[in-house]
Amino acid sequence: MITEKLLPTEDNIARAAAILRRGGLVGMPTETVYGLAASALDPDAVRAIFEAKGRPQDNPLIVHIAEFSDLDPLVTAIPPTARAAAEAFWPGPFTMILPKSDRIPSVVSAGLDTVAVRMPSDPVAHALIQAAGLPLAAPSANRSGLPSPTTAERVVEDMDGRIDAVLMAGPCSVGVESTVVSFACTPPRLLRPGGITVEQLRRIIPDLVVDPAVLNPVAPDQKVASPGMKYKHYAPRCRVTMVEGSPAAYAAFVNRHTEAGTVALCFEEDLPAVKIPAVTYGRACDQSSQSEALFDALRRLDDEGYDTAFAHAPALSGVGLAVYNRLIRAAAFQVVKV
Ligand code: TXA
Ligand code: MG
Repeated sequence: MITEKLLPTEDNIARAAAILRRGGLVGMPTETVYGLAASALDPDAVRAIFEAKGRPQDNPLIVHIAEFSDLDPLVTAIPPTARAAAEAFWPGPFTMILPKSDRIPSVVSAGLDTVAVRMPSDPVAHALIQAAGLPLAAPSANRSGLPSPTTAERVVEDMDGRIDAVLMAGPCSVGVESTVVSFACTPPRLLRPGGITVEQLRRIIPDLVVDPAVLNPVAPDQKVASPGMKYKHYAPRCRVTMVEGSPAAYAAFVNRHTEAGTVALCFEEDLPAVKIPAVTYGRACDQSSQSEALFDALRRLDDEGYDTAFAHAPALSGVGLAVYNRLIRAAAFQVVKV
């Protein structure tokens, strides 16, 4: 299959929408990460997503919508807090899990009786969903297990020849996947941290519970609220260890590791003190710059041929929680305190 690389013009968005309507797969920009979209109402198209990504069959997909009125047909109930959260955070990097209606094929929900729904704010995503006239199932557009793509070029790297088209828009602004909250349980539960922070969520959902799997490893036989939590994720080939400590202690630690192939995955502020090769992921003083840069920095570790990386741990507040959640999985929960 030849993958069409389409600039996001009006004509090309119409072309991509036609591909989706006939059951094809399109790489789609969103404000979080690029998605691999197909019609959520077409089970064969959804099966092709799993195939193209090499995704485990039991990991359900998020359904993307363009208008508030698109939500009602997809679910059987919307609790008042869920409605308030949608009004506060949509369009944007926020996904709600709700009881699913019969319109959602079971391949989308991986056999669960719930469905994840999100309304992206990215204008190209919005235009594509509108033009297709369909809810779009879309996981992140990476090969399963690799860091999510935050540029169109990274989508092409993983998916060239495997999907029909990629809309070649700019880099994603948030850079980590959406915040996922389940309203299918009481109290509502944060399953995945993202661009909408716990602090923001609690203003609307005061009794929100943070699932332990957000920060802790999940045992292989443990039952999890979100199947995605149990898989190894976001991992480059390079072995990553997270290093927690002050900037001075971090620099002193990495400077003892002068072996070839070792790199410091650090903040821009760390650079003057770090004497070994470094790849940066944003600024310590600006958490959004960290989430925006993280996944591309993880992929650069492999591009640049490193085999060992020591990552300076982010703070756990605000968007830092999402950055920490992705990085600790990339590090397979290996943490050193200095
Ligand atoms: O920002 C995002 O959410 C991106 C962009 C493309 O929209 N999408 C994304 O999709 O990150 P994906 O498939 O990589 O992650 C979806 C996560 C997985 O952890 C999955 O297990 C969980 O959401 N999920 C989906 N449906 C669920 C459900 N019904 N119940 C529990 N978890 C669910
Ligand atoms: Mg993913």
